Amino acid sequence: ARRPLIAGNWKMNLNHLEAIAVVQKFAFALPEKYFERVEVAVLPPFTDIRSVQTLIDGDKLSVVHGAQDLSPHDSGAYTGDVSGVMLAKLGCRYVVVGHSERREIHGEDDAVVNAKVHAALKHGIAPILCVGEGLDVREAANHVQHCTDQLRGALKKVTAEQAATIVLAYEPVWAIGTGRVAGASDAQEVCAALRATLEELYGSEVSRGVRILYGGSVKSSNVGEIVGQTDVDGALVGGASLDAEEFAKLSAIA
Ligand code: 13P
Repeated sequence: ARRPLIAGNWKMNLNHLEAIAVVQKFAFALPEKYFERVEVAVLPPFTDIRSVQTLIDGDKLSVVHGAQDLSPHDSGAYTGDVSGVMLAKLGCRYVVVGHSERREIHGEDDAVVNAKVHAALKHGIAPILCVGEGLDVREAANHVQHCTDQLRGALKKVTAEQAATIVLAYEPVWAIGTGRVAGASDAQEVCAALRATLEELYGSEVSRGVRILYGGSVKSSNVGEIVGQTDVDGALVGGASLDAEEFAKLSAIA
């Protein structure tokens, strides 16, 4: 069985002091035993990571941490960028790659996403690889094709052994930050198609092991139905992960 993953993508929210308060409050809101069943990750802005790492290590918290982006390069003249080497040194387990906000606002295409996937894997950080369609694609009923194409593009030259360590996230763009959550069966449809694509590319052992998350307006009131779907193994949570109490409530249901 796949161990569910609940990952909080804070986006550009919470400074390093607020980060400590939120993680501490969250971690102590759930019983230690809970974390044996479900893995919970927080994905703060770069400026918070060192503080969160220190807190997690110091208090021996069961929460893990990661980042929201990385450079495809290891070092060099890339002003403003942060590399996988640096994130690995800070103990990051996960890094978000291919988020729709990066694809849209920063113009990241499948080639860039693929390069970032390779950069993360190279440094032993598991990419949380996001795919998802806009409203126009959904209305034209091309969402399955769109998402599986994004997946194939992102996984170019990724081996089966590497693919087994990746986490996928289906995030329909029209459901992000809009309060408009995809129906549980809509989430299941695309997540099943992503798993079928993994099977085609890497075989059934890999496809059965990879965790596929749903993201888009997930909160405590809808998480149960979503993670109850056969091919949905957790959630990538934006807004609701900023509030320690709500994030704990949501996690407890997952
Ligand atoms: P919201 O949960 O705020 O809709 O954000 C979803 C998301 O983009 C997570 O990566």
